Amino acid sequence: MAEIIDGKKISAEIKEELKEKVASLKSQGIEGCLAVVQVGDDPASCVYVRNKKKACEYIGIKSKSYELPAETTQEELLKLIGQLNEDASVNGILVQLPLPSHIDEKTIINGISPKKDVDGFHPESVGSLTIGQPGFVSCTPAGIIELLKRSHVNIDGKNCVIVGRSNIVGKPMALLMLRENATVTITHSHTKNLQDICKTADILIVAIGKNKFITGDYIKEGAVVIDVGIHRDENNKLSGDVKFDEAEKKASLITPVPGGVGPMTIAMLMYNCVKAMTGMKD
Ligand code: GUN
Repeated sequence: MAEIIDGKKISAEIKEELKEKVASLKSQGIEGCLAVVQVGDDPASCVYVRNKKKACEYIGIKSKSYELPAETTQEELLKLIGQLNEDASVNGILVQLPLPSHIDEKTIINGISPKKDVDGFHPESVGSLTIGQPGFVSCTPAGIIELLKRSHVNIDGKNCVIVGRSNIVGKPMALLMLRENATVTITHSHTKNLQDICKTADILIVAIGKNKFITGDYIKEGAVVIDVGIHRDENNKLSGDVKFDEAEKKASLITPVPGGVGPMTIAMLMYNCVKAMTGMKD
């Protein structure tokens, strides 16, 4: 039976460390402020934004909220981002996604100064990660690396299979695992023999957005299984991309849903905010 990786506990430890770091920066006269921009009132986004602001308060940095109506134009949003880029009191800018369909997300992401790109979505941040230069890293994959390291998983030389190739999770995840010297395979919806490939994984990271898609048959005995998915079933119960009850019988370590990867995203956002306060040296 697999041991559970407790993302809630690990994220609490990270936030505690950051709280101390922020207090020490404050004593040197360095203050942090995250600008949180939300367009429209998507219910899931409201919850995420509220939790992000709460985390800022907890670690001791300010947050400035910009709650804009759904009809906001792309030009208006770009103008606000331009102002926040210029505002020396703001270290980090977070534009909650998804944006309404009349706004082009790429244009907005490209408009954020790479120095304040705490989500790590800007092409310059992604490019820096690709060639091993310092920069902001997308929070969910960065959080998965922390989960693995703090659970004493040896990554070096291991076979890592990633299911999903999104810009936010799959692709940066592959680059981070490569940086840790894993042998990385990225799979996706067109992959042939997905089950056979997953069965080669010492570390299986699943981010495909399909409820309980990965059954026990996809998992090698003793593998480490990381589940990025989050779904709500007809009984309002949360589940992931992995069929947990089957997977936990095969895996040596596994993340639950909820309480696995989820809490790490906000902890790593806070990590990026502190990094932004210190001019990206870490
Ligand atoms: N929407 C869902 N996840 C995220 C995230 O990590 N950052 C932003 N900005 N929007 C999101």
